[in-house]
Amino acid sequence: AIPGTMTVDDDGIRRRDFINVAAVGAAGVGGIAVLLPLISQMAPSADVLAESSTEIDVSSVQPGMAIKAVFRKQPLFVRRLTPAEIKAANAVDVSSLRDPQTLAERTKEGHEDLLITMGVCTHLGCVPLGAGEGENKGPFGGYFCPCHGSAYDTAARIRKGPAPKNLEVPEYEFTSDTVVKVG
Ligand code: FES
Repeated sequence: AIPGTMTVDDDGIRRRDFINVAAVGAAGVGGIAVLLPLISQMAPSADVLAESSTEIDVSSVQPGMAIKAVFRKQPLFVRRLTPAEIKAANAVDVSSLRDPQTLAERTKEGHEDLLITMGVCTHLGCVPLGAGEGENKGPFGGYFCPCHGSAYDTAARIRKGPAPKNLEVPEYEFTSDTVVKVG
């Protein structure tokens, strides 16, 4: 091989590599430029972040009853399950669920009867029914979204309709037997 030829090849390869890297880099930068405004729109505003947690007295929530609260400016459902509702939730074959989770995984140990979820349908964000007095709990006895008919069971797991996920369980902890700190 003539040393000069090798040099030309080397340069050629380096140039192609550089062009490829430049193309990927440009696409990456373009992607970030497109994404950044979206991300900043999705990021919670400062006043929402300031309200990062909320305390709820759950002592008045009787079995079979649910209340609506607010967490980070969104509806939050707090529900005390009856023994029959707990039994119904535990009788489900979890592997058959769209979003497989046990009731125990969705509640705190020793407080399996207290179900805390966001009151936001995982389809397109409507507020499901079932947390207010006399509201339609739907065919699975939990929550029912009137927008497109998603039905959640007594563990607020999606059982029917277009919603892809169970109602979200936010981060929370018991600060006493009767008070829950959400967030
Ligand atoms: Fe609830 Fe569509 S938003 S089913």
